[in-house]
Amino acid sequence: MSANARILCPTLKQRLMSAEKAAELIPAGANVGMSGFTGAGYPKAVPGALAERIRKLNACEGSEPFRINVWTGASTAPELDGVLAEVDGIEMRLPFQSDPICRQRINNGTMDYVDLHLSEVSQYAWSGFLGKMDIALIEVAGIREDGSLIPSSSIGNNKTWIEQADKIILEVNSQQNIKLEGMHDVYYGTALPPHRKPIMLTDPSDRIGEFYFECPPEKVIAVVESNAADRNSPFKASDETSQKIAQHILDFFEREIELGRLPKELLPIQSGVGNIPNAVLEGLDAGPFKNLTAFTEVIQDGMLKMLKSGTLSVASATAFSLSPEGIKEFDENIDLYRDKIILRQQDISNHPELARRLGIIAMNGMIECDIYGNVNSTHIMGTRMMNGIGGSGDFARNGYLSIFVSPSIAKDGAISSIVPMVSHVDHTEHDVKVIVTEQGLADLRGLSPRQRAREIIKNCAHPDFRPALHDYFERALHSGRGMHTPHLLGEALSWHQRYEEEGQM
Ligand code: COA
Repeated sequence: MSANARILCPTLKQRLMSAEKAAELIPAGANVGMSGFTGAGYPKAVPGALAERIRKLNACEGSEPFRINVWTGASTAPELDGVLAEVDGIEMRLPFQSDPICRQRINNGTMDYVDLHLSEVSQYAWSGFLGKMDIALIEVAGIREDGSLIPSSSIGNNKTWIEQADKIILEVNSQQNIKLEGMHDVYYGTALPPHRKPIMLTDPSDRIGEFYFECPPEKVIAVVESNAADRNSPFKASDETSQKIAQHILDFFEREIELGRLPKELLPIQSGVGNIPNAVLEGLDAGPFKNLTAFTEVIQDGMLKMLKSGTLSVASATAFSLSPEGIKEFDENIDLYRDKIILRQQDISNHPELARRLGIIAMNGMIECDIYGNVNSTHIMGTRMMNGIGGSGDFARNGYLSIFVSPSIAKDGAISSIVPMVSHVDHTEHDVKVIVTEQGLADLRGLSPRQRAREIIKNCAHPDFRPALHDYFERALHSGRGMHTPHLLGEALSWHQRYEEEGQM
């Protein structure tokens, strides 16, 4: 069905225009709330047209640099972050990105970046901490007769952006499967304190909201047709390291079930994106598990397989993140998936109250972890931004089990992922329950810092670095200083310093 045929509201049909014309409606310095979460549901036509406009304007000698502030749900794609960063069109970016050009600009100081817990972004916007939102630029799968909007492959912060923005530009993308209609659950019951009420969701399969976004037609200044696929990164087959990590986690789950600490259906799973989480999902699918549930941010290929096989009975998320094969599978079997998948806004998918109530099992990647269990998910060598904290803090802090995973070494063994002291802290020792590398798993629950250090070094460190970590810990223990969390302060970050200077920890 063409994009035009998906615009059923006569008033909004009158606002149809080209992406170039719509891009002209975005002024310099605007705060623009864009749709998009993990490469799904981002606007695909207007950002490119805007980047072209910025490129031309900035090429005029003596002109004031034209830049905007870009707020999204999470990461987008080269057609949004990439093109705008390339023309130096982004003044400030939030709340998460994973784009190589954005990353370069953030790290060379030409782009400001506010790295936020994904559950908190809407609260920040509602409270006015981010300033006024000028324009919302939202991809939708269709516009209904009454002007309400059919969400596309992600919800992210769209509900908040539509409510908060002075003006709205809509992109109607005919590549989004129209059968997505009915898979969303947009909740209109949130409020700022002191007016908050409990969120009445007690199972990942619960529906508490509406299928559509409410959208005041008078705020819509442009409607643009688009016809382009989501980012759809190819699916990488899991490697040996990921499979080993996955096996440690699966063994751990089985032990926890035997000990009566987890039910045989486990608890709702939250899984970050990437090689290792995918290997864990594959392992779960191959194992004896049935009727598991997911309460997570992103639905990946692995989850589709699990839904099809019955390993997973329901998956609640805020976005898809599928490979081209995953998209094909989803489109061809959408009738099978539509009752088993619910897409929610990110302030619900990542809500602390819900993560705690449901007892999420959170599995996320990390850059490094220290011997006491503090985790760095974001900063390379303490200073260079990788992606951002995303939802990892929402789930790790509030879930039942927070598991952090990483290969024990990086950069061909030049770097140990287990270090004496992390160079940046995203998740404190209080929020981290389990650390897993391909070497093994350290269950930190109920352990003191010194006990944790022994477990992490013994089970998770790479053999090439284990003796040096032991040596550090033993000398710290005999330093005659604080014995609760023993450290040699002058040496604690020397591993990172050595890597920066010599290329080897
Ligand atoms: N020091 C320096 N560099 C390191 C490193 C370390 N300790 N550990 C990994 N790296 C580098 C890798 O070499 C790789 O570099 P490259 O891109 O130049 O090849 C890069 O970091 C990514 O490493 P990789 O092992 O491929 O990790 P990943 O794709 O599994 O991502 C995180 C790991 C931590 C970056 C990722 O999980 C993340 O962004 N987490 C934060 C957000 C989050 O958790 N989201 C999910 C919540 S819902």
